[in-house]
Amino acid sequence: MKIHWFLPTGGDSRDVLPTGPVPHHRSPTPDYLAQVARAADRLGYEALLTPCGTQCEDAWLATASLIPLTERVKFLVAFRPGLLSPTLAAQMASTYQRMSQGRLLINIVTGAEAHELARFGDHLDKDTRYARTGEFLRIMKGAWGAEPYTWAGEHYDVVEATTRAVPDPVPEIYFGGASPAAEAVAAEHVDVYLTWGEPPDAVAERLDRMRAKAAEHGRTLRFGIRFHVIARDTADAAWAEADRLLAGMSAEAIAAAQADFAATQSEGQRRMAELHGGDPSRLEIHPNVWAGIGLVRGGAGTAIVGSFADVADRIAEYHALGLDEFILSGYPHLEEAYWFGEGVLPILRERGLVDVPGPATDVISTFR
Ligand SMILES: Cc1cc2nc3c(=O)[nH]c(=O)nc-3n(C[C@H](O)[C@H](O)[C@H](O)COP(=O)(O)O)c2cc1C
Repeated sequence: MKIHWFLPTGGDSRDVLPTGPVPHHRSPTPDYLAQVARAADRLGYEALLTPCGTQCEDAWLATASLIPLTERVKFLVAFRPGLLSPTLAAQMASTYQRMSQGRLLINIVTGAEAHELARFGDHLDKDTRYARTGEFLRIMKGAWGAEPYTWAGEHYDVVEATTRAVPDPVPEIYFGGASPAAEAVAAEHVDVYLTWGEPPDAVAERLDRMRAKAAEHGRTLRFGIRFHVIARDTADAAWAEADRLLAGMSAEAIAAAQADFAATQSEGQRRMAELHGGDPSRLEIHPNVWAGIGLVRGGAGTAIVGSFADVADRIAEYHALGLDEFILSGYPHLEEAYWFGEGVLPILRERGLVDVPGPATDVISTFR
């Protein structure tokens, strides 16, 4: 399986919901993003998911700046296809592969909230956006082929789309979206279908449906899941950290977030909010799976919480459902990359579940 980390291009903190300027809030400066990227590079994560949205730095530019500062970690760059020409996106990705020696993965975000998309001048309704995404993917992949690609459809009309050279490797396409329109596009066009962290039975049901839908196109999909993580030497220490995060969320902040979520146009977001209904007393939705982060954060709202062995067990349980890729994060992203990378990754390697090697285990000495 592949274990990815997250690049906090909107900024980072010890708190899920940062309030007031305090020393432990970290802007997404080049220096801080480089610290997280270098940690992920060293600890043996596969790639860094880099989000897209108004509150983040642009994922293409932020990650490109990190290429020369890292050696092997890949960048899973999220972008909204409706905002770019598919041929230009193909060219950017093709260049990225040559500049990074093949370290680009792509996350396609068709987007949800109308006010966010309106900022970029995108006023199409969601089903139409997904239909456009399908055509976009067809053309972008076509432009990466050995021969120029021509397409005239509902949303695009391109003649002989191509790039300077076929990218090596052709970037793998990841994709999240839980609505029926999203599932239809994923089944036909993408490599890795992503979900936010729901309980295993709900995930299993979705995976079965997606396998069937992909089979209608003669395709198979890989599956990935996005979780936060709090891993410590003992379960008590991990849950104490979850309690600390919860203590930083005021009742007003939780209520304000629920009001936002109630108006969402995202099926994935609706499902995340439904896990807890805004109620801080029903957060453990499965053993070691805690929905507390989603009380105030949009998007990925669940964390795997426990001892290093508990967290490894839970990952193995989800892996057995057919999930081969785990995209993890924690607050703050630098420290939590180390907790998981030094505590859980070695267990997963030992069990033969992860093959990216970790750092050399150096002998160090105590100063006396
Ligand atoms: C793992 C994962 C990562 C996502 N990353 C982003 C992101 O960076 N920016 C964003 O606006 N939406 C992001 N999304 C949201 C989806 O791409 C999608 O636009 C949204 O869920 C609405 O579609 P739906 O109604 O089909 O669920 C992500 C979803 C998943 C599952």
